Amino acid sequence: MNIGILTSGGDCAGLNAVMYGFVKAITAVDPKVKIFGITNGWAGLVNRQYREMKPEEFYNILNIGGTIIGTSRQPYKKLALEEKYKVDSMKENYKNMDLDVLMVLGGQGTHKTAGLLANEGLKIIGLPKTIDNDIFGTDFTFGFHSALNVATECIDRIHTTAASHSRTMLVEIMGNKTGWLTLYAGIAGGADIILIPEIPYDIERVIKAAGRAEREKGYCIIALAEGAMDKDEAAMDKKSRTQIRAGKGEKTASDRIAKQISEALNIETRTIVPGYTQRGGNPCAYDRVLCTQIGAYAAKLVEDKKFGVSVALNGLKITHNNLSDIAGLTKFVGQDSELVRTAREVGISFGD
Ligand code: F6P
Repeated sequence: MNIGILTSGGDCAGLNAVMYGFVKAITAVDPKVKIFGITNGWAGLVNRQYREMKPEEFYNILNIGGTIIGTSRQPYKKLALEEKYKVDSMKENYKNMDLDVLMVLGGQGTHKTAGLLANEGLKIIGLPKTIDNDIFGTDFTFGFHSALNVATECIDRIHTTAASHSRTMLVEIMGNKTGWLTLYAGIAGGADIILIPEIPYDIERVIKAAGRAEREKGYCIIALAEGAMDKDEAAMDKKSRTQIRAGKGEKTASDRIAKQISEALNIETRTIVPGYTQRGGNPCAYDRVLCTQIGAYAAKLVEDKKFGVSVALNGLKITHNNLSDIAGLTKFVGQDSELVRTAREVGISFGD
């Protein structure tokens, strides 16, 4: 059997761990299997960049972050190729490589492309990666908990310095469209205010909540997603929002909010952006276990010749969804979800 593997989109901890789990499990069933590592994501499939890899190359990578086969984002835009050409070239290269199945480790955009290719008759299995946790149909994506640990530690470390200086400190956490990482890290790190794209804020309420935290405990911590927006911005499309922000010279929501709070309350504010430290580094224990489970489950899918699906976590159970049911869909934080309600119950403000 010839199996292609590619990793696509922003990297995260756990990509290697899933490949480890998959290769270990599939070679245990079929020691003669041939593994082809397609390099740098979809771009590798478009450009026929791949190499046959020895199973042993995957055996020691469980605890190593990133991806040993490389990844890329939006290769189509960069290559300036026509949609049809890309699909045709990927189909052709899949055929020329004589693949029996293509394993695709990626996020929401990657799953969209995977769904497209599955519709064209390619045998594809998706594996849900992203620190954003926004893939529809799975409770958690791999990489999320590793990033969560980093973001939480960042907030943890901010408490003492914020308290020492009586400052309001804003930690800007990754997540442009969705606020899963910010919500979890904000709760885990004991933030006073959590701002996420799904719950647009009203600056007056944010200022009020910050003032209350400063009065009650002497400092304030705000966990905000990079895609956080106020109510006015939420009514605009992304392009207008970006234009308006650029016109005001605002690069990020955190800088703007920091300034607004500082002016209104006459206190010092600071912003912290942990950025790519959330994506880099080795997978946490939870992700290592989840990735091993996901990889082993994917090997079983290959054995059962079950294609056109993506592996998913449902409660404690590893399962799968049809690509046709989930590709292109985003899992958003529900405004009235249990976790949001819990946060409110312990006094966290969403500034709404
Ligand atoms: O998709 C994961 C993610 O880390 C987002 O949270 C973030 O907005 C984006 O990637 C950054 O992407 P890039 O690697 O292209 O800078």
